[in-house]
Amino acid sequence: MSPVRILGTGSSAPERILTNFDFEKIVDTSDEWIRTRTGIVERRIADPDIATSDMAYEASLRALEAASVNSIDVDGVILGTVTPDYFFPSTACLLQSRLGAKKAFAFDLSAGCSGFVYGLQLGKAMIESGEARIILVVGAETMTRIMDFKDRATCVLFGDGAGAALIGKSDMSGILSLCLGANGDDWELLHMPAGGSRIPPSEETVRNRLHYIKMKGNDIFKEAVKAMESASIEAIRKADITTEEIDLFIPHQANLRIMEAVRKRLDIPPKKVFINVDRYGNTSSASVPIALDEAVRSGRVERGDLILFSVFGAGFTWASGIIRW
Ligand code: COA
Repeated sequence: MSPVRILGTGSSAPERILTNFDFEKIVDTSDEWIRTRTGIVERRIADPDIATSDMAYEASLRALEAASVNSIDVDGVILGTVTPDYFFPSTACLLQSRLGAKKAFAFDLSAGCSGFVYGLQLGKAMIESGEARIILVVGAETMTRIMDFKDRATCVLFGDGAGAALIGKSDMSGILSLCLGANGDDWELLHMPAGGSRIPPSEETVRNRLHYIKMKGNDIFKEAVKAMESASIEAIRKADITTEEIDLFIPHQANLRIMEAVRKRLDIPPKKVFINVDRYGNTSSASVPIALDEAVRSGRVERGDLILFSVFGAGFTWASGIIRW
């Protein structure tokens, strides 16, 4: 098996910022409520002419540049998203074309917020097996398009953005472990009811606001903490390291209180946790790769550092992993 590592990362987010104070004018909420319940201060919102593939493209260009890899050398594009440009063709195909990655296969992956990390696992396995040498893994979302701006319980939580990582064959192993899980029993706690084959779009579905995120936040909170904790313990064990050795913990940036609960359960010191939920909100599958890219570019991560990341999302799906940078 060939060792696999991350060769370069990139991220992108729209310039336009929506603050908690902006939301005070839209729904019955307050900056104080959002801040204390979630840790979010502001999030990015895409202009009407920007879609998921546009942000994915920017993030991917940066990842290619960071890795010094030419797009023609990419063997595959795997893109995690719940907000594709179109139902079909896949956003990955649009990205593949725009990047000029002519040799690459391309497909989207639906695993909620865990899409990027699921993609990492697939890409890693393909490289290890010798089926591919370099794969572009992307998490990209335009969550503001499926947010119900009349539902204060959900609309304040999400934001737009994209993160990308190029992974490839290497002399030393960089991705030490990945542990994925899913449980579809409680799928209704976080879903978008209409638009698919179960409830096709109609005037009625639009009138009843069924093309937006529906979520039972309280129940998800508890499930997220449990799953992120157990997957992280498993990832640490599988990588054959100790928790004390971890240099940086990148939790899914959904809610500061969830991150804090997981951190405490894992007994990781606060200074080792990377947080940017205050600036982006929950960007779903883009959350972990944006955070990773910011951690790398801001110097929070140095060569050889051990990074734990953990994510939880709709499905439910979850995943944790250990990287040696
Ligand atoms: N502003 C003001 N009040 C709000 C509000 C808002 N934006 N959203 C909800 N409320 C109200 C509720 O209506 C409720 O009022 P009530 O007691 O009069 O009925 C009250 O606040 C408490 O609601 P509750 O849902 O119990 O709050 P909470 O402390 O659980 O926090 C979340 C809500 C959504 C922030 C929290 O549950 C959460 O983050 N869950 C995880 C969600 C998540 O991460 N999802 C994505 C997973 S990838």
